Amino acid sequence: MCGIVGYVGAQAALDVVMAGLKRLEYRGYDSAGVAILADGGMAAAKKAGKLANLEKELGDRPLPTGTTGIGHTRWATHGGPTDANAHPHLDNAGRVAVVHNGIIENFACLRAELAERGHTLASETDTEVVAHLLAEEYSACADPAEAMRLVCRRLEGAFTLVAVHADEPDVVVGARRNSPLVVGVGDGESFLASDVAAFIAHTRSAIELGQDQVVELRRDGVTVTGFDGRPAEVRSYHVDWDASAAEMGGYDYFMLKEIAEQPKAVADTLLGRIDPAGSLTLDEVRIPPGVLREVDKVVVVACGTAFHAGLIAKYAIEHWTRIPCEVELASEFRYRDPILDPRSLVIAISQSGETMDTLMALRHAREQGSRVLAICNTNGSTIPRESDAVLYTRAGPEVAVASTKAFLTQLVACYLVALYLGQVRGTKWGDEIRAVVRDLAEISGAVQRVLETMEPVRELARSLAGKGTVLFLGRHVGYPVALEGALKLKELAYMHAEGFAAGELKHGPIALIEEDLPVVVVVPSPRGRSVLHDKIVSNIQEIRARGARTIVIAEEGDETVVPYADHLIRVPATPTLLQPLVTTVPLQVFACELATARGNEVDQPRNLAKSVTVE
Ligand code: M6R
Repeated sequence: MCGIVGYVGAQAALDVVMAGLKRLEYRGYDSAGVAILADGGMAAAKKAGKLANLEKELGDRPLPTGTTGIGHTRWATHGGPTDANAHPHLDNAGRVAVVHNGIIENFACLRAELAERGHTLASETDTEVVAHLLAEEYSACADPAEAMRLVCRRLEGAFTLVAVHADEPDVVVGARRNSPLVVGVGDGESFLASDVAAFIAHTRSAIELGQDQVVELRRDGVTVTGFDGRPAEVRSYHVDWDASAAEMGGYDYFMLKEIAEQPKAVADTLLGRIDPAGSLTLDEVRIPPGVLREVDKVVVVACGTAFHAGLIAKYAIEHWTRIPCEVELASEFRYRDPILDPRSLVIAISQSGETMDTLMALRHAREQGSRVLAICNTNGSTIPRESDAVLYTRAGPEVAVASTKAFLTQLVACYLVALYLGQVRGTKWGDEIRAVVRDLAEISGAVQRVLETMEPVRELARSLAGKGTVLFLGRHVGYPVALEGALKLKELAYMHAEGFAAGELKHGPIALIEEDLPVVVVVPSPRGRSVLHDKIVSNIQEIRARGARTIVIAEEGDETVVPYADHLIRVPATPTLLQPLVTTVPLQVFACELATARGNEVDQPRNLAKSVTVE
């Protein structure tokens, strides 16, 4: 949830750290702080609120210049978003500074122990104990990495920690357990961050830090060890996108840019998936085909928008492979003691690859002997690393908290996985697979056409800025699209928004319909499953008769809906199962514009964070 940066090199550390924090602000933005080693001591500043507040503080009270520093942008867990609770946290002598992402579960007893030994703790956070413990351990061993290892062995929970000590002006130490931390290796400089975006402007050479590892960062290189002190194997990789991919590129918000990037993201996710022999290939599959042929149940686990992608995947998986598929919120999964065995295939979908609920669900599945296939947008993140197989979406960095291009690429990946299972199990012929892949290849152009016709949607959204509630209806794959449209509106516009299966309307929700209530209806194609189409046209009539203002999303050429649509949004015709790839786009634009009209922060909605690394 929080964003962390560490730097040691020849540049002014404050500039590097602040630029990195700007890139990581999506991870949390309720307070921020920095600590710089300079003139033999420690200089720190921290402020509640967005990074801009810290920038102002640094303008009013500049810190001395130093070339080693750390920084943090916070999403509060323990202790509210105040100046005192902002990171970094220092020990009583002000020689150690530490920043943290995660939750230290045994902090209360550590805090009591420290108080007994005479330490005074100034914040309500779980993090502060670490600064004090590091100071104690360092005074005994005079080795910052060893002090970190000793402290980590006493901590329970999930944490990324990055610390500096005033006695070691050219060293930054970091540690990782169940929370992301990557190392950047530059020329005469080294970086640590929650995400490569923080240092991509300086280097594209990165090292994945493994579970329970400590890294010591110096200008001329890094040393990685386990919490037990044993040297660790270092896995380096090259980041294949550059800084411009994470810039706004002329858009007012990252979300607008990311919505506009969807045609490319969809096309990129399809690239190279079919080999010259016409077979589908995934990125890393460590599951033998024989095991996949034995699979008798698929379970998709995910959260939020990724969960909606999973709901849509169910239709494709069951239709194309005839394997029963369950879709479950990752946060609920392991607590209901799900029935899993080696014949269950679990698919974990996550943009960030760090969502703790999803990670814990996949670990639970693997403990039961099930294989896990990850669909993920972040190379080298924890979820794909702990899975048996991976299909990477190629959306590029998604910075806005509201997921857009990641969702569309997750859908593409889900379709590919369903086809892959069909291929391995022989329920889909090669030519059938190629036909669907050809349909998918046309979606990029269809999404582009939707984007080019969005002005009336924006106008409509602005006209609804004063409304309190918007409802969304859909059937079949349109139902998860309705859920996704409602989620987007909730998180961005802070409005009451709900998605329903249109058939459920008469079982209760129709009582909500009142004069001029905006109701968005996602209409399936009249071709293919015409029964679905006819049913939803009846639903539109039912709500309109009760005063609803109908906003109808329908395929080009579908004239039957025209008499019942107060507002009609057209999307290109697609095969029924693939329709969410085009019908979701107007809902993203709608929510973004409505949020803007209400004066909300589009990229960083209140109370949210991009990457939810706590349960
Ligand atoms: O990184 P993940 O895909 O695992 O994140 C899951 C959800 O937290 C995420 O989709 C969230 O619901 C988005 N903010 C929705 O726009």
